[in-house]
Amino acid sequence: MSKSNNFNDENSNTSENPTFDSVLEQRLINRRRFLGMSLSGAAALGGMGLGLVGCSSGEILPPPVSPSTTPSGSPVPSPTPTATPPVAVNPIMASLGFTAVGKSLLDKVVIPAGYSYQVIYALGDPLTANTPAYKNDGSDSDYDNRAGDHHDGMEYFGLDAAGKPSSAGVERGLLAMNHEATTDENRSSFFLHGGTGALPRPAAEVDKEVAIHGLSVVEVKASNNKWATVPSSAFNRRVTPLTEVEMSGPARGNALLKTKYSTTGTKTRGTINNCGTGKTPWGTYLSGEENWAGYFFRVAADDTNRNNDKSVTSLKRYSRKAGDPSRHGWETAGAGDQYARWNISKIGGSADGSDDYRNEMNAQGYIIEMDAYDKTKPLKKRSALGRFAHESAAFGLPVVGKPLTVYLGDDSRNEYMYKFVSKALWVAADANPADRMATGDKYLNEGTLYVAKFNADGSGQWIELSMSNAAIAGFATYAFADLADICVNTRLAGDAVGATKMDRPEWGGVNPVTGEYYQTLTNNSNRRIDPASSTQLTPDSANPRYYEDNDGNKGKGNPNGHILRMKEGAAVGSFVWDVYLFGAEADADKAMVNLSNLTDDQDFSSPDGLAFSQNTGICWIQTDDGAYTDVSNCMMLAAIAGKVGDGAAKTLSYTKADTSVMNVVTQVGAKPAADKLKRFLVGPKDSEITGLCETPDGKAIFINIQHPGEGTKMADVADPTKYTSQWPSNAGYGAGKRPRSATIVITKDDGGRIGS
Ligand code: FEO
Ligand code: CA
Ligand code: CA
Repeated sequence: MSKSNNFNDENSNTSENPTFDSVLEQRLINRRRFLGMSLSGAAALGGMGLGLVGCSSGEILPPPVSPSTTPSGSPVPSPTPTATPPVAVNPIMASLGFTAVGKSLLDKVVIPAGYSYQVIYALGDPLTANTPAYKNDGSDSDYDNRAGDHHDGMEYFGLDAAGKPSSAGVERGLLAMNHEATTDENRSSFFLHGGTGALPRPAAEVDKEVAIHGLSVVEVKASNNKWATVPSSAFNRRVTPLTEVEMSGPARGNALLKTKYSTTGTKTRGTINNCGTGKTPWGTYLSGEENWAGYFFRVAADDTNRNNDKSVTSLKRYSRKAGDPSRHGWETAGAGDQYARWNISKIGGSADGSDDYRNEMNAQGYIIEMDAYDKTKPLKKRSALGRFAHESAAFGLPVVGKPLTVYLGDDSRNEYMYKFVSKALWVAADANPADRMATGDKYLNEGTLYVAKFNADGSGQWIELSMSNAAIAGFATYAFADLADICVNTRLAGDAVGATKMDRPEWGGVNPVTGEYYQTLTNNSNRRIDPASSTQLTPDSANPRYYEDNDGNKGKGNPNGHILRMKEGAAVGSFVWDVYLFGAEADADKAMVNLSNLTDDQDFSSPDGLAFSQNTGICWIQTDDGAYTDVSNCMMLAAIAGKVGDGAAKTLSYTKADTSVMNVVTQVGAKPAADKLKRFLVGPKDSEITGLCETPDGKAIFINIQHPGEGTKMADVADPTKYTSQWPSNAGYGAGKRPRSATIVITKDDGGRIGS
């Protein structure tokens, strides 16, 4: 996310949940993740392109051979998978081989010696053969056929030489990615059109701003280790906030989704503010809709116009108070329906909202699924996975005959962590299905959603969110009607059951060796020892730090964030957890702040993106920071992670204003050795590092540099010397000097795996 405005900085959880359960529960933890994995489950992993599987003794097994199907000779996109040779057998890495890079304030991408990178796909790059090259001077148009802005989460989908889907494709593939937002000031994405922020907004500017949001799919190809996009590829695709998509799962057809556009509540237009991603075991792309609320406008009298009914409770809980302005003012650009839909005030006379857009915001905030291989297939929003500020969607290791688990985070201060457990049991053949979106229907439309509650002793509960939970059915704050209502108003259901309020859950990933889930908690400026308002919380075991950073960029609360990890218990409702790493400045107090003993080669702040390499097992950690940026631009680190419980419990003692002592017991993971955590990359100025995917052989990784130069002032758009970044033009890429979000690919000069 960009830090340039407060539309990404909501804080609407004022519920009275305890910060952690006072009732301690001890549960035995089994090791079902890999112990219970059948051979056919392992085959399913092979079909996903995973390069390894582990076993209970900790040894690493070679990957199984993928199931084969009949190849087809057609070069056009097809849902029929082809035969795929097994991915090369590689051990996961036991240590990191590269020399760490130092912190950097340069306007360039810094990577270790022996590695190279190329910019391959930047804002505005053509996605058709007929689209003119990007001039990057504010005059470009036709953004429906160009790369969008603010590249974010991203996944790789391999192709064989004939252009058929192949989990082993290492020289040809598709990048599917999110275009989260745009670099703006006072409503206007000024690098796109040089415009102004005054209302009403000109339609010509708004049309460009809308079109650079959404998703894109672009084919990429390697030749002699040089990567490039294929602008003429038939696979290339844009999805924008105007693309028609299907609603699916429990909320499909519900009254909460009825609008003038879809009087049956079964479809909506587009997806917006897409942040983290996921890749399903059946080979589709998942995208999380994050800070969507800020795009919508409500008139000041809207609470009254709605008779203060329960929709007002919902809107407030999702950060849209009556009178709230919208981020870009798109609702002011004209009478057309494509503009009117951004005004979610009750305007019509209907009882059900079928004559206006009062329910329009209920159609944003989901995990949306796309078949990156087949652009003829409509996208589907998976309402069963809940509605909130979604980040990534990380699958637990699939086990044949068991349900699938998807881990989810809600990125706002004091929000919750969730998991979805499918009703359908995993079938190995579904790793290579004939119809990928139908397979998504099978696993993602029915199941159970849980929210996490953390205990001080390192245990925790997953609490079911359903009408059979009396705390939800009888919730006094909001009268839930049915499961669909829970899927749409998931935050309120989390409030009802007293879920643990977290320090902004961002992305997560599942360790392919242990099956444990890692969750970044990026920071929280609202932790306090002596809270002064309902949005301020005292530290708890899972969010244990409060400190003041008075060094350079100042901050207080938990300004540097942490990474929590959890391991499932014997029952679906239990887990154990610890804190894998605490972000900190290396010279910060090791007793209360730098609890992971980070060195100058390891220190970081505000972990955000997180992804495990399926080939090397490396845990890649990316930052979106504002706290340590006086010392370094945002960065990416490589880690060889351990496992839950490899460290020890620790008590942090805080002195309150009344001089009483508050002790917080937390669980600190093993301090990382020098060869187990190293800084791998630092980005250009005013950028965040986000999105990560790799070729199945682990020899090329793709990452995104988002919003370089985002601190540039709109008034300075005509003067490149005043841009806070000129990347990637200063790296030799593209026309013009306006900074552009872009995808880079990193390779090792000796042809080895990344991280070795
Ligand atoms: Fe788009 Fe919460 O990061
Ligand atoms: Ca992010
Ligand atoms: Ca500082």
